[in-house]
Amino acid sequence: MINVKIVLTGGAGFIGMHLAGRLLNEGHRVIIIDSLHSYYPSERKKHHLEVINFPMNDFHKVDLLDREAIKAIMKKIRPDAVIHLAALPGVAYSIEEPLKYVDYDIKATINILEACGEAGTGRFLFASSSSVYGDKPGAALKEEDADGKTVSPYAASKWSAESFCHMYAGMYGLKLNIMRFFTVYGPWARPDMAIPKFIKKSMKGESISIFGADSGRDYTYIDDIVEGIHLTLLHGRNGEIYNLGSGREVKMLRLLEILQSSFPSMKLDFTDYRLGDVLSTHSDLSKAMNHLNYSPKTTIEEGLKKTIQWAESNEKFL
Ligand SMILES: NC(=O)c1ccc[n+]([C@@H]2O[C@H](COP(=O)([O-])OP(=O)(O)OC[C@H]3O[C@@H](n4cnc5c(N)ncnc54)[C@H](O)[C@@H]3O)[C@@H](O)[C@H]2O)c1
Repeated sequence: MINVKIVLTGGAGFIGMHLAGRLLNEGHRVIIIDSLHSYYPSERKKHHLEVINFPMNDFHKVDLLDREAIKAIMKKIRPDAVIHLAALPGVAYSIEEPLKYVDYDIKATINILEACGEAGTGRFLFASSSSVYGDKPGAALKEEDADGKTVSPYAASKWSAESFCHMYAGMYGLKLNIMRFFTVYGPWARPDMAIPKFIKKSMKGESISIFGADSGRDYTYIDDIVEGIHLTLLHGRNGEIYNLGSGREVKMLRLLEILQSSFPSMKLDFTDYRLGDVLSTHSDLSKAMNHLNYSPKTTIEEGLKKTIQWAESNEKFL
């Protein structure tokens, strides 16, 4: 892949900044469309762009809900590929404000798909989520295990957005891949997520609320997700859905045990499950391994070490 023009929606966010940095380093032209939504501070999102030294001429502060503006931008840019990361994330907030997820995760996706179709974009990658599997503890989840039986408005919106991706890809002949990320963490991770929250509270000596001690997650280090997206762009087969995870489930008590080795006086407050949360997630990566040669490298121990090192030198951003 040499010097392609790629639009990243949501490129000022956590995953977007890391992906943009990698693509820029490889010499691609990266154009970011991001509204700097206030789900978490927009100042921090601006800082993400500074950290990667993003060329601000290629940054468009636009809301994907502005259908005409998005169509005009896409017709002007005419990118080779679009990686659609922009969304309102977070399971807990989606229980409080379900209609916002219909806007930001469904309607916004329709607008960018339509704009891509009209601009003649060849390639479309959609950032979906392991949450579309719903609550299916036990065996590792294969792509075909998703059946629409979701348990949060966030997950239902992602599932619906996936369906719109298939529909518009057919209508406009877009080459489509859907990527289902499993709990991503690392430097600059979103402040509402468990790992950054646990680290921040431990650094401040505050008590951590644990919702469900027997839960488990397939925590995926950011560099592995960026590699997975990159491989999908290079080798993804048309219309395929790929799980991108670590392929390992880490139980909550094990996660806390690893964190305790850095924060021995960590204070824990065990409470019940939150509505919308699933018991466990665990990805089956065979398809991504076979089609893309995807092979996540970072163990939870290494990933947490790097994340804690980052947090210690960026305390004001936590
Ligand atoms: N982080 C994870 O663990 C995880 C797991 C599964 C799926 N995902 C998905 O990956 C994507 C990126 O997640 P993230 O963790 O980097 O989140 P993030 O909130 O850090 O990034 C999302 C970005 O999208 C932008 N945005 C939101 N709505 C927009 C709109 N209407 N128009 C323009 N910009 C808009 C936000 O300003 C933000 O910068 C999301 O689609 C998310 O649902 C993330």
